[in-house]
Amino acid sequence: MSAEFPPLQNDLILRVFKGEKTERAPVWCMRQAGRYLPEFREIRVEFDFFKVCRTPELACEVTLQPIRRYEGLLDASIIFCDILVIPQAMGMEVLMIPGKGPHFPKPLDTPADMLELIDLGDGYNADTELKYAYDAITLTRHKLEGKVPLFGFIGAPWTLMAYMIEGGGSKTFAKAKAWLWKYPESVHELLERITNVSIDFLKGQVKAGAQILQVFDSWAGELSHDDYMEFSFPYMKKIAFELQKTFPEIPIVAFPKGLHSKTLETIALETDYTGISLDWTADVEGLISNLEPKMCAINKPLVLQGNLDPTVLYADKHVIESKTENMCKKFSSVKYVANLGHGMMPTHDPEHLKWFLEAVHKYSRI
Ligand code: CP3
Repeated sequence: MSAEFPPLQNDLILRVFKGEKTERAPVWCMRQAGRYLPEFREIRVEFDFFKVCRTPELACEVTLQPIRRYEGLLDASIIFCDILVIPQAMGMEVLMIPGKGPHFPKPLDTPADMLELIDLGDGYNADTELKYAYDAITLTRHKLEGKVPLFGFIGAPWTLMAYMIEGGGSKTFAKAKAWLWKYPESVHELLERITNVSIDFLKGQVKAGAQILQVFDSWAGELSHDDYMEFSFPYMKKIAFELQKTFPEIPIVAFPKGLHSKTLETIALETDYTGISLDWTADVEGLISNLEPKMCAINKPLVLQGNLDPTVLYADKHVIESKTENMCKKFSSVKYVANLGHGMMPTHDPEHLKWFLEAVHKYSRI
């Protein structure tokens, strides 16, 4: 299948995930396609957010926008889609409200509402519900002309469950967390169901042409270590295990935002994730010095991604350069993919992102 795609010209990021030391760190940015780009906003004037996700030509176009604008500076692309397409595929309505973010008109209130979710058992086929995403990936792989590899992605089961119960973003996650204590059995059933469709969806993305995968656990940091180990870790672990079993050559990255070192170490040591993406609050030096010998002992390379605070991109060129240099130094002893610690923001200046990318090219050379 992949033989039909144009040959890859830049495999820097794939080499890092294989555990190779590279001439410089590859770099890409979460939300590199988005509202900070005027060319993206132009498309959004005409089309609703999920219309863009569901129309392969539009999803492909916005995926390519940053690759075109930052020609030669980005080392990976990420398919334009959203983590909330899985709740949609499970039968929930999700709207994207301008200026507010995602909104579920009918969130899950009690476990009885789970009866209305589409049963994702044997009969269900993620291939039909989410075919538009596969078509977008295949088209994008062709249109990329082998310039850089293409990421596919999903949201972690805990993060998706939180959205499905809260009905959108939240400051406290009181509703989703109340479910953990009130309905633990239903919670595990729901997490299992989300996990199963997520595995199907990721496998479908690889078959369609995704070359690297990332699992966004955006709300991981809302859970204590023990609760993360109960309500997120087993499902995260299962996803990586199943994907690595079927597609051992496809790297899979975990982005468990907001976790402390102990939990991050457990993910690195006890799961099949090829790499871990850190946010800007992580203790990078402490984590590396503790974890590196332990990874060595189990013969697994430590591959880390991250972690510039995205708000640094509001600074001037000099500050962006020095913060980026400092970041590259901290990661210099491990296999490293440079990135932000979270996504681009709508008010970022595209020129400032260019300064960040150039600084990575300059300061991560060995
Ligand atoms: O460029 C890329 O990174 C690929 C596309 C991508 C989007 N969402 C596009 C998007 C990816 C990887 C995501 C993942 C995603 N979606 C996450 C995990 C990463 C994270 O940010 O923690 C989450 C939590 C979501 C859910 C979601 N989708 C939220 C909270 C929002 C609102 C954000 C906002 O700033 O308004 C979205 C909408 C969204 N997803 C936008 C984009 C470009 C902006 C919406 C718009 O165009 O109106």
